Amino acid sequence: MGDVCLVIGAGAGIGGHVGKRFAADGYHAALCRRSDQDGLDRMVAEIEEKGGSASGHLVNAIAENALEELIADVETHIGPIKTVVYNLGAQIGNRALSDTGLKVFERGWRMGTQGVFRIASTLFPLMEQRGGGTMLVTSATSAVRGNAGQHSHAAAMGGRRMLCQSLNAEFAAKNIHVAHILIDSGVNAPDTLGKMMGEENFEKLLDAKGRGKDGLMEPSAIADTYYHIAHQHRSAWTFELDMRAFSDIAWWNHPLNLNI
Ligand SMILES: NC(=O)c1ccc[n+]([C@@H]2O[C@H](COP(=O)([O-])OP(=O)(O)OC[C@H]3O[C@@H](n4cnc5c(N)ncnc54)[C@H](OP(=O)(O)O)[C@@H]3O)[C@@H](O)[C@H]2O)c1
Repeated sequence: MGDVCLVIGAGAGIGGHVGKRFAADGYHAALCRRSDQDGLDRMVAEIEEKGGSASGHLVNAIAENALEELIADVETHIGPIKTVVYNLGAQIGNRALSDTGLKVFERGWRMGTQGVFRIASTLFPLMEQRGGGTMLVTSATSAVRGNAGQHSHAAAMGGRRMLCQSLNAEFAAKNIHVAHILIDSGVNAPDTLGKMMGEENFEKLLDAKGRGKDGLMEPSAIADTYYHIAHQHRSAWTFELDMRAFSDIAWWNHPLNLNI
């Protein structure tokens, strides 16, 4: 068994594609998602059909002890986790402050911030004993820019960014590389953006910006960058990165956006 890449939040978008990318280069991809066993099975089968190694773990990562038990399970039964990808978002849709109860606010924090803390607390001591490791954290525009209706999301993602910086301050010298990767465009992600928008609107979005127009980020292209970051020479590590589609640079000026 090769090195293990554990992906927390492996849907058909970024998470699944990152798993496939690492598996294509000899890693075992341990894929975790919350509710879609068929989707998980399909991704594992796709990797295995190409000669790769993968396992599916249906786990609600924010449940008590779930992340800790998942890491112990993978380490014991599959192998040492060399790279962990924290890909859970904290998006709960647009909610006015009056519609953002304490529970909703706290759920965002559990998914956005606390999960990263729990992984670091559980896995970093093991990585340190082994001489190093990598954590790639998917982030979003909300980590650096608040917005109406995004109180829970932005607070959780902003906290996640600061946590990544603090983890780096303590662990980079121990050869543990934490990269905070800010995804600053919509992604061709049917399991998240697709479900949030609904099938019809997501199809419209794909027609307007996807399907060869490249105005929607392709998760396979994002996954190439994740793989590269995990294999950088430590004299030149990326700690923070923002990525967006070519049409989202000064979007009001780009002809692609005039068609919407
Ligand atoms: N999609 C976008 O447009 C976009 C834009 C900017 C940033 N991002 C960031 O990208 C990341 C998500 O990537 P993606 O949108 O491409 O999605 P994805 O990788 O296709 O799917 C993420 C998966 O996370 C799983 N998940 C959610 N809550 C979970 C939990 N409590 N325990 C275990 N698994 C859980 C879901 O599984 P189930 O489906 O099985 O429930 C979902 O399929 C997030 O960090 C988000 O902030 C996305």
